[in-house]
Amino acid sequence: MFEVNQGIIQVSYIIATILFILALGGLSNQETARRGNWYGITGMAIALVATLAGDVTQNFALLMVALLVGGSVGIFAARRVQMTQMPELVAILHSLVGMAAVAVGFANFMDPGRLSHYVGVELTIHDIETYLGILIGAVTFSGSVIAFGKLSGRISGSPLILPARHWLNLLILLGAIWFAYQFVVQSADGGGLNPLLIMTVLALLFGIHMVMAIGGADMPVVVSMLNSYSGWAASATGFMLGNDLLIVTGALVGSSGAILSYIMCRAMNRKFLAVIAGGFGTGGGAAAAGGGEDQGEVVAIDTQETAELLLNAREVMIIPGYGMAVAQAQHTVFEITRTLREKGVNVRFGIHPVAGRMPGHMNVLLAEAKVPYDIVFEMDEINEDFPDVDVSVVIGANDIVNPSALTDPNSPIAGMPVLECWKGKISIVLKRSMATGYAGVQNPLFFEENTRMLFGDAKETLDEVLKAL
Ligand code: TAP
Repeated sequence: MFEVNQGIIQVSYIIATILFILALGGLSNQETARRGNWYGITGMAIALVATLAGDVTQNFALLMVALLVGGSVGIFAARRVQMTQMPELVAILHSLVGMAAVAVGFANFMDPGRLSHYVGVELTIHDIETYLGILIGAVTFSGSVIAFGKLSGRISGSPLILPARHWLNLLILLGAIWFAYQFVVQSADGGGLNPLLIMTVLALLFGIHMVMAIGGADMPVVVSMLNSYSGWAASATGFMLGNDLLIVTGALVGSSGAILSYIMCRAMNRKFLAVIAGGFGTGGGAAAAGGGEDQGEVVAIDTQETAELLLNAREVMIIPGYGMAVAQAQHTVFEITRTLREKGVNVRFGIHPVAGRMPGHMNVLLAEAKVPYDIVFEMDEINEDFPDVDVSVVIGANDIVNPSALTDPNSPIAGMPVLECWKGKISIVLKRSMATGYAGVQNPLFFEENTRMLFGDAKETLDEVLKAL
């Protein structure tokens, strides 16, 4: 394009890096999340302009067309997607990062100037970077496509357990190491395409196998894990291209995704390696109707009685789940909260770390509805307060309030800490039927003596409760 001083480019890269770090810092807290987003957007804009100005010397028009097409598809997808489909969108976007890493890797390998540019040890290092970039990219790509299929219900959520699957994974790993050696040796003589292609196929199969083996109940960890992989894929691409900004940005995404995976595992009381090894969790996604008939009777309640219970309470705990997102009931929830608070009722929110279908799902919805942050609490902060709670309102949640997670060692969600609302005076559960939730297990809470079921779409029933209030 035009010559731009390399110093300016480097400074822009450093500014963008700082903005990305500030973005991550901002996103860690609800009050600063909006600012964090703006840091990220500004950083990305600077990075894009600096890369265009610094690195693109040819085919500028072609690049612009590609940017416009890609940008338009992105805007279209982001505007159209429902909040409940967000994890699917994130999964498919991760697959694009993986695909880009594979494409850049092959382009880099096929670059005719490669052998004249790098010699000896430098060539070996460059080849290993290329190999790793393609390897991580291919695993990320196929794993993310399968995760997209599972999250959107196109593929069954049940874990696929092949016989000797750990041996199969080990074999693929050994194969990848062997072909890495072959690739480096052959590449110095101008060859190497075959081992690279074979490894790519192996990595694609590994990604498919890895995510297929993970059960529906563990999908939250998979989403954050693929997020981390996409970061490392980008970082490896940065090494290939010698682009410092991409290396740092990829490492930021890779490490923050790894930390998020760790947090998710802790929230679900899972060991990370056990999740990756797969096998946990039953079919997720679609709610299985019926079930649990033999657990006893449920007691239904209507909206008028619900309003009365709420008005007579001093302490109310609202527990939102996936169903609140489906019903888009958050604005009515806010109105009810405001009305009750005006009448002197202390209303708080208890948020489970894996409520909904993506990390922070409930916080985003409540923030959108302008629920004050200081009455929204994490599970760990309020779980011990339930004995003092008069009314818990469970809105479209199932797994996150399931006592069998604590009592049934054979449950797919066994060991996952849950919001122990049954310890309060009364729990009102809002859902449309007796269908199970994501993990596909029936919930004994619904049959407890101090539980009342308010059947119906959460938005419609809450609108009526608000009217009655
Ligand atoms: P779920 O256990 O999935 O339960 C949601 C409940 O909402 C369902 O039982 C459903 O019952 C009800 N519902 C659906 N639409 C409704 C509507 N319009 N009105 C009222 N109720 C409605 O959700 P949860 O308790 O939030 O737990 C989250 C689950 O998702 C966990 O198993 C978690 O591991 C998994 N998961 C989480 C994530 C992240 S990162 N958060 C990612 C992937 C998976 P009806 O059909 O009877 O109405």
